[in-house]
Amino acid sequence: MDGTARWPATIRLRAWERDHLNLVEGERLLDVGCGLGEAALALAEDLGDTGEVVGVDISAEMLRVARANARAARGSVLFRVGDAGALDEPNDSFDAVRSERTLQWIRDPLSALSEMVRVLRPGGRLSLIDTDWSTFTIDVGNRDLAERVSEAMRTERNRPSNIGSRLHDLVQGAGLTPLSRNAQTHTWTEWNPDETPAPDGCFSMESLADDLVDAGQLAANEQASFVHQIRDAAYRNQFAMSLTMYAVVATA
Ligand SMILES: C[S@@+](CC[C@H](N)C(=O)[O-])C[C@H]1O[C@@H](n2cnc3c(N)ncnc32)[C@H](O)[C@@H]1O
Repeated sequence: MDGTARWPATIRLRAWERDHLNLVEGERLLDVGCGLGEAALALAEDLGDTGEVVGVDISAEMLRVARANARAARGSVLFRVGDAGALDEPNDSFDAVRSERTLQWIRDPLSALSEMVRVLRPGGRLSLIDTDWSTFTIDVGNRDLAERVSEAMRTERNRPSNIGSRLHDLVQGAGLTPLSRNAQTHTWTEWNPDETPAPDGCFSMESLADDLVDAGQLAANEQASFVHQIRDAAYRNQFAMSLTMYAVVATA
């Protein structure tokens, strides 16, 4: 997650989000699936001493780090364990709600979205940022490998992994008015497998191979050679991957 936060594409999306959320002193912001809390804490700067940030995440472990990160924050910051599908917050209680890269992990993203809308006051702003894994490409000089990866990524299995490009339609379907949308692509052009187990902010190539096996694009006995081809290309400096993230800011 720290790696993902360093991607220039993430930095651009978060700066764009900050401009479009237009938070003002004294407002209340909810971050659903806040993870390590750094995006919420950066936005807390705009809420001043009288504002409040609430971060909700299903993982107590994430929140332990988020609380440590919050020590120097101005204003009130609360991180609590909770489920995006059943928020323990009153109706109309936030001026703004954000959720980044979380809906893609939730089996019923529409319930989570309707919870965000429920706790947002009329006229409040909603910001959603998410990945669309069907945009993932890998170029290691092997067209067959690239096509198998694309095919595996196109199909959603057990989770809405391609929700990014649907965000705009989803907020409209939930009765909100989109104010602005954005998309940013992260590209990896180098990776030294001896220095890091995976490209910065990305899953390991072993887990990519597992995904291809699940999707029927790779036989179990081909996994080792698949990973070897990618690592070998990275050593030869013939390695590129890309992934697009989408964002929408809407008003209730
Ligand atoms: C990829 S991380 C993104 C974290 C952070 N928003 C960011 O962009 O850096 C996804 C987060 O969603 C949380 N999460 C997954 N399912 C959730 C649920 N049902 N309710 C709340 N949080 C959830 C995970 O624990 C994790 O912290």
